[in-house]
Amino acid sequence: MTGQTPSSKEITAAAALLRSGQCVAFPTETVYGLGAVATNAAAVARIFSIKQRPYFDPLIVHLAHADDLDRVAAEIPAAAAQLVARHWPGPITVVLRKRDSIPDIVTAGLPTVAVRVPNHPVALELIRRAGEPVAAPSANPFGYVSPTSAAHVRRQLGEAVPMILDGGPCQIGVESTIISFEAEIPTLLRPGGLPLETLEREIGKIAFAANPLMPNAPGQLPQHYAPRVPVEIIAEVGDVPTALRANGALLTIAPPEDRAGFALTRHLSDDGNLEAAAANLFATLRELDDTTVSVVYAIPPPEKGLGLAIADRLRRAAHSQ
Ligand code: TXA
Ligand code: MG
Repeated sequence: MTGQTPSSKEITAAAALLRSGQCVAFPTETVYGLGAVATNAAAVARIFSIKQRPYFDPLIVHLAHADDLDRVAAEIPAAAAQLVARHWPGPITVVLRKRDSIPDIVTAGLPTVAVRVPNHPVALELIRRAGEPVAAPSANPFGYVSPTSAAHVRRQLGEAVPMILDGGPCQIGVESTIISFEAEIPTLLRPGGLPLETLEREIGKIAFAANPLMPNAPGQLPQHYAPRVPVEIIAEVGDVPTALRANGALLTIAPPEDRAGFALTRHLSDDGNLEAAAANLFATLRELDDTTVSVVYAIPPPEKGLGLAIADRLRRAAHSQ
């Protein structure tokens, strides 16, 4: 975290806004969230209108402490309890059968609720002082790249959000891993900041949702996390005809050997490190959106560890409707 950490007074003011039914943007370790008190349906409705998010896309409920889980979840299977005991606060969201205290607008009418405890002191203090669970999607217009800095939020939603707490750049940079415990076998709904391999070592096999681009999560639309500039996935530089390179950007994990005729190149990490690549991914997509290139050619990492989440986000950014 940088020196921008909000003061205790600012967090108190933000919590008061939440309690009065307003929305507040706040930092988490993954991406910035746009929060409202989860038990206040009218407040949650404001999130949907600010983001222009369709009501069929349910929200994640954020808690200050794992002990509060049974306030929102009706059933907690042993494997879910095991994962959250180990990884909360942290980038994992569990989908469990919900309690009646969670209004339908939060869960899009589903009988389940998605829950996590974020690993960021500002988020935790805010939720604690709000005194209620906080529903929060990523703080971006629906379908666009998630924000990893307060400036990203300010630029796109600034006018519409009463307060943005600035906790500096997000440390992880991709959203939480979502595991559903609705069926007998735990199911991966979204790869994210906590690698699947780590979770499988602890609780055994985790199934992939039937169609990786359209799993059961209503919000997991094929095109998501997308900048305005078209993104095309390639396996290697040689896949792009030389004639097309002058108008395109090349996006790689590690530095490319040379420019290879592309208008510009961007790499997400100086040495291929996937933590660094994840942390830089969304800011780099936003930066490329501000250039004049007409297409971004992206080479995803192998789908191991954090590479699974990075490749997933690049694929969704590339999927044209
Ligand atoms: O890291 C994160 O998870 C961030 C930070 C702010 O916590 N939040 C985030 O929220 O990424 P959002 O709304 O952008 O993505 C939440 C995803 C959506 O794809 C939604 O469909 C899914 O979670 N989801 C929420 N509730 C669900 C449920 N009951 N069943 C299945 N999927 C659910
Ligand atoms: Mg989102």
